[in-house]
Amino acid sequence: MPTETPRILITGAAGQIGSELTSLLREKYGAENVVASDIKSDISSDLLESGPYETLDVTDKQRIQEVIQTQHIDCIFHMSAILSAVGENRPQLAWDVNMNGTHNILEAARLMKIEKIFIPSSIAVFGPETPRNDTPQETILRPKTIYVVTQVAGELLCDYYVQRYGLDVRGCRYPGIISYETLPGGGTTDYAIAIFYEAVEHGRYTCFVTEDTMLPMMYMPDCLKATMQLMEADLSRLRHHSDFNIAGMSFTAGELAAEIKKHLPEFQIEYKPDYRQQIAESWPRSIDDSAARVEWDWKPDYDLASMAEDMLRAITARIGR
Ligand code: SER
Repeated sequence: MPTETPRILITGAAGQIGSELTSLLREKYGAENVVASDIKSDISSDLLESGPYETLDVTDKQRIQEVIQTQHIDCIFHMSAILSAVGENRPQLAWDVNMNGTHNILEAARLMKIEKIFIPSSIAVFGPETPRNDTPQETILRPKTIYVVTQVAGELLCDYYVQRYGLDVRGCRYPGIISYETLPGGGTTDYAIAIFYEAVEHGRYTCFVTEDTMLPMMYMPDCLKATMQLMEADLSRLRHHSDFNIAGMSFTAGELAAEIKKHLPEFQIEYKPDYRQQIAESWPRSIDDSAARVEWDWKPDYDLASMAEDMLRAITARIGR
């Protein structure tokens, strides 16, 4: 991180990852030094009351610069994004938020001399022509959905700002992130969260991808660990910047259901694939993350069994069974 007590801005702070990242950063650097922001006005009282909050639309260039200036920001975590399923329904919005939003953040960072910027990408950057097993760091990137078009262009833009302007921009390709604090906002990997809620609440789930669909996933504690570890890594060790593959675990929808059944033997699942099946089929099944392991010592803590056990514990406690 830039200084001993950086002034941090988080965009998309009300989102699935942004909300938990905000809590972690507030704990670590002091609540008053971590400015949460989001386009939403109906955000949780936790986020509002635990530290400074700004309403911020990342497509509004002026407003980004105003917040950076008035809040004396020197580090940004840019977590706002339109995910794959929502993006396919609203491609123009996905371009505006993901592409123009990222460009606005990078421009503000350049003009206002921000010391460090985190801009995540996704394992979805790969397309159907990419090797799907142990997908390498450097490989074919020919995505087919608007979400991923913007993620690939975003990675290239970030690296351009690193090379051209010397900005310290970092990012990794998140797998599908599984968590229970805040629901995800319309991705293809969302089934791997919904299944837990439905299993605990109703004992059954109708899955929108097929039983043998395998995707790379990661439990939230590992996602937060990767984010912090990459941001704290020694810059001189980094050969990559904005596009690190990271892996947690890979499983099929059927394997996840079987794991849940070990805890809830009555659990029933049926499969009714919809338009998201095609999106899932254009993504990798598993990821080679050796660059992250070599350059910043990445290693996940959770596998399918430990993640499922913890998800079921947390959701059962939450739903009050
Ligand atoms: N979780 C994301 C999605 O499904 C992938 O990055 O859209």
